[in-house]
Amino acid sequence: MGLFDRKPIVTAEDGEHGMRRTLGAGDLVMLAIGAVIGAGIFSSLGTAAAGETLADGTVVRYGAGPALVLSFVLLGAVCGLAALCYAELASMIPQAGSAYAYSYATLGEIVAWIVGWALILEYAVGNVAVAIGWAGYFNSLLSGFGIDLPGWMTHGYWNVKASADPAVRALLDTAPRIAGMPVLINLPAFGIVAAITALLMQGVKESTRANNIMVIIKLIVLGLFVIVGALHIDPANYKPFAPNGFTGIHQGAAIVFFAYIGFDAISTAAEETKDPQRNLPRGILGGLAICTLIYVVVGFVATGLVPYQQLRSSDPLAKALSLAGLDTASWIVAAGAVVSMSAVLLVFQYGQPRIFYAMARDGLLPKFAAKLDPKTRTPKVTTLITGVLVALGSLLADDAATYDLTNIGTLAAFSVVCIGVLVLRIREPDRPRPFRVPFVWGVTLMGASACVFIMKGLPVSAWIAFGVWMAIGLGVYFIYGYRNSVLRTGATDR
Ligand code: ALA
Repeated sequence: MGLFDRKPIVTAEDGEHGMRRTLGAGDLVMLAIGAVIGAGIFSSLGTAAAGETLADGTVVRYGAGPALVLSFVLLGAVCGLAALCYAELASMIPQAGSAYAYSYATLGEIVAWIVGWALILEYAVGNVAVAIGWAGYFNSLLSGFGIDLPGWMTHGYWNVKASADPAVRALLDTAPRIAGMPVLINLPAFGIVAAITALLMQGVKESTRANNIMVIIKLIVLGLFVIVGALHIDPANYKPFAPNGFTGIHQGAAIVFFAYIGFDAISTAAEETKDPQRNLPRGILGGLAICTLIYVVVGFVATGLVPYQQLRSSDPLAKALSLAGLDTASWIVAAGAVVSMSAVLLVFQYGQPRIFYAMARDGLLPKFAAKLDPKTRTPKVTTLITGVLVALGSLLADDAATYDLTNIGTLAAFSVVCIGVLVLRIREPDRPRPFRVPFVWGVTLMGASACVFIMKGLPVSAWIAFGVWMAIGLGVYFIYGYRNSVLRTGATDR
């Protein structure tokens, strides 16, 4: 048996060992919107428009300016290609595990492992970034009520170390110390991850209901931003339209790609979806189309409301309204951002345990991670493990570094999925495909190259971190997964 052995495709039936099928197409679109609209549009939009320069003048990335709307259109097209590929594989292989499961069935075990390892960047590391963004908005809301938590309780250690802001760096000296180490923790970020994990431990149905409510709130809040903002647009702000030309549009797209991550997350719910052949493609493509439209409109209004340089902030939408003198609307949007990011956290904390579960079921991760709770039939063990890992990361990490790392890992997984569709068409042309990618050669090859092209817009530091992460992953595979793979060892006691 070799490194590229493929797992046979089975259409999992609702049986004693599988998960319960409770989700319909509407639930999936809601899950997709819940996963997609969050820190990307509420936070990273500002950096994408204005760019990023270090205190010593070094340019980390160029901003798109008002041409940010073109970054969104570009990303909508790129993600559309990848979404078509996801839809074909998700409807053919309706199992937990998303791109990991698809790669196992199409490109073989080692590629599947690499993709599964990259998906940890998308889900778990991505959620660390969202939790930190959530905490930022939460702290400003608390300030609105006159409650200010001490700085050492709202800034993680690595966040302080990476900051160029002298007021934040001063915390290294003023924070309380234990055994000589400064205590610098992001307590609200830790708290929200703990709360979301507790909700997920209750089982899938309760969680999707909570998600639906949060999605409705976020749509209302963004609608408010667009309507109120549109009435205060100053056309002068659209000039110059593309201050850094295509470089700005490209590098802006590479960071704001974070806003699109998540439409694929619903494919991790394939084993819990009713009639997945029909509902998965509808849910994935429908969710992506709605989100792209919302982003273009929000981007257009935000860059028309204030000069794009002023969007450089962790809460650019609230700030833009406030700069335009719309304080009440600004406060409501900040509250909406907190709700929106909670919904994102929920979906990713839901997806990651199912990927761990799928990898453990295949023997690539230890057996205890492949247990389902006998009552709710949800993967409680991996839900708890994910909760602990993400909560600890949120307590200490730096958000900027996690955004870039999340994007690079996700784009890598997307490009493998695109190639996987083509490979499976060639290898197994006659297998039933409830959803078929149109113009398969063009869509898959363009999809994979477009993802790599967006990756090239990320800073060098992201590529280095990605390389290190992948090297660790390969080490883990050869030490554990390679020897314990169910496919290779033929073990059946899982
Ligand atoms: N797309 C998600 C967000 O923007 C990850 O928060």
